[in-house]
Amino acid sequence: MAEDQRPPVFELHIRPMFRLLDREHMLTFVDPGFDLWDLENVWTMRNDILVRLRGEGLFNMPGQKVGGPWPAEWIDLFERWTQNPNADDIGHHLLLGQRDGDYQLQPVSDKRRLRAKVTAPSPGCHAWFALESVTPGRREYTLYVEPPLPAPAAAPTAIPALEMFDKGDVATLVIHDAGGTQELPIA
Ligand code: HEM
Repeated sequence: MAEDQRPPVFELHIRPMFRLLDREHMLTFVDPGFDLWDLENVWTMRNDILVRLRGEGLFNMPGQKVGGPWPAEWIDLFERWTQNPNADDIGHHLLLGQRDGDYQLQPVSDKRRLRAKVTAPSPGCHAWFALESVTPGRREYTLYVEPPLPAPAAAPTAIPALEMFDKGDVATLVIHDAGGTQELPIA
């Protein structure tokens, strides 16, 4: 892999290529079904998936009649992900953030700034709040850490995670992290 090529990450670049239609069908049309949104399922099935994506198997996946096949760049990206496992020999993926101390919420005029101090497993990691859903009065986030690939020697490192959002009608923040799920009331 060329030095400057950004390593593909399961949650950021691979899982989003699989539609709900694909996931539902592969959970139910084959026995045993497998979950195209699950890291370990996709890693285990990676070679079979690649054969189907390339149309080398019995069926092209996804079938032409349901919007397939994928463009070549998507198939190349999936292949590149399969060729660069992390140290635990599984596809490169995000970690749930380990929060150090409470979440900080500050008013910034009609916006709110959400901060966290995160303990990352090594230098070179990035942490951020991924927005999972916005419903009336509620915003749901996952605190993620992206480790570098290849991973350097383990050395717990404090890094920040930061998000700004419009207060609007938000009354509750739901945040998933390594410690579980937290609900924060918003004043
Ligand atoms: C190990 C790899 C895979 C196997 C063995 C497999 C097998 C199958 C089988 C047996 C069917 C039913 C075909 C029929 O009865 O017409 C099917 C349908 C389907 N599969 Fe897969 N599949 C694989 C990977 C994938 C992937 C990677 C996607 C999406 C990116 C996908 C999307 C679909 C969809 C949307 C259908 C329903 C529509 C259709 O028949 O094309 N599958 N698959």
